[in-house]
Amino acid sequence: MASDVLLLRKKQSLQKRYLRALSVEAVFEKQRSRNLIASSAKGLQITDVTGKKFLDFGNSMVLLGHSHPEIVKVVTERAADLLVGGVPGWTMVEPRVLFAEELKSHMPGRLNGHGKVAYCSSGAEACDYALGLARAYTKRNMIISFSGGYHGFTGATLAVNGIEPWLAAHRTPSRDGTVTAPYPESRDGRDKEKHEAYCIEKFREMLDTVASPDEVAATIFEPVEVMAGLRIPSAAFWQQIFGICKKNGILTIADEVFTGLGKTGRFLAVDHFGVEPDVVCLGKGVGATLPLGVIVSRAEVLDDHLKPNCNSSSAGNPISCVAGLEGLKVIKREKLVKRAASLGEYFLARLREVSGRHDAVKEVRGIGLILCMELNASGNQHGEKAQKLVEMMFDEGILVARNGIHRNMIRVSPPLVVKREQIDQFVVKMNTVLSSL
Ligand SMILES: Cc1ncc(COP(=O)(O)O)c(C=O)c1O
Repeated sequence: MASDVLLLRKKQSLQKRYLRALSVEAVFEKQRSRNLIASSAKGLQITDVTGKKFLDFGNSMVLLGHSHPEIVKVVTERAADLLVGGVPGWTMVEPRVLFAEELKSHMPGRLNGHGKVAYCSSGAEACDYALGLARAYTKRNMIISFSGGYHGFTGATLAVNGIEPWLAAHRTPSRDGTVTAPYPESRDGRDKEKHEAYCIEKFREMLDTVASPDEVAATIFEPVEVMAGLRIPSAAFWQQIFGICKKNGILTIADEVFTGLGKTGRFLAVDHFGVEPDVVCLGKGVGATLPLGVIVSRAEVLDDHLKPNCNSSSAGNPISCVAGLEGLKVIKREKLVKRAASLGEYFLARLREVSGRHDAVKEVRGIGLILCMELNASGNQHGEKAQKLVEMMFDEGILVARNGIHRNMIRVSPPLVVKREQIDQFVVKMNTVLSSL
């Protein structure tokens, strides 16, 4: 008991020091400052400094669970030789080459055979550099992005985000050279096919009105929009958009920062749709929790056109590549992509069954291990219920995230290594929470 009080005091003191030492206004910093201070984590389980344990179902970057033993082992072993940095001598090191070769081998079509890799340090950087790359290659300036899309917090990515406009408000000038197309969403019983046809028509119309095709360098898109509340277009939608882009020499940049490396039950989310982008951006889990961003692109697009975009001193840190390569090996050996597809189906069915018993939930959507619970509008116009649900799940020891363009939905996105029993545990807790929401 006495030690519980001591631990709590220690936690409160750390919280106070945190508030004094760090600027906590940034959105993600605010989320981090919730009432959890992790002291350690393994798999899905995070242990707070007070000893309380949580299951992490709200994660977007930890594919193999926290502190995966094989990642810990290789990073520890190789750090002795490769904890290095900078450019001279360390660009051609083996882990960077091996990782690029392995990543390419998972890519669809042309990217697999004739693709090349460029490294950077984060998902936003990958998207930012991809935009510069497309402009350099095509010698065109305009970028088409989609409403609801999220690509990061750098200058160029803020300019193409179609979500949370207040984030980009003070950067309005950087929006020059960008136009936003509507993204299909299934809402309020709207006919999906008709709505997609409308979005395609609007995309075409944009090329006849606000952006002439010979000005447009690329379109950047999330194959499924996650932050916007898990919008999942059809294969026919993407095939038509790709057709229009190809006809007009517009490059296609798939932002797979959230969806890549198996999370949707395919290695890339575009693999569900039978389309082959010119450029793929990867981040988050690609470095197996170490900071890393990657662009994979057709070689002729990348060669001679990346400079000076992808020029960060810490791009493709060797230890991050060691971790990323080991991560890919584990994903392959344990067939985690296939597993994500089948466990995702199981999770979706169970969550739908439980949610169907509660008026608060309007719909549950999912693709692989990315799921979204859309709550009914009543009492949730500004996401109040979603916030309450997040907090109640937190009290039950389960972490989930809030998303949706009105922040009124719940994102559930466990690591690929989630166990069926943990999913069952989640569903039971969700049922309890929904009963008293
Ligand atoms: C689809 C997508 N693109 C880009 C990013 C930005 O990645 P990072 O946070 O590594 O900068 C994110 C992050 O959430 C994302 O979800």
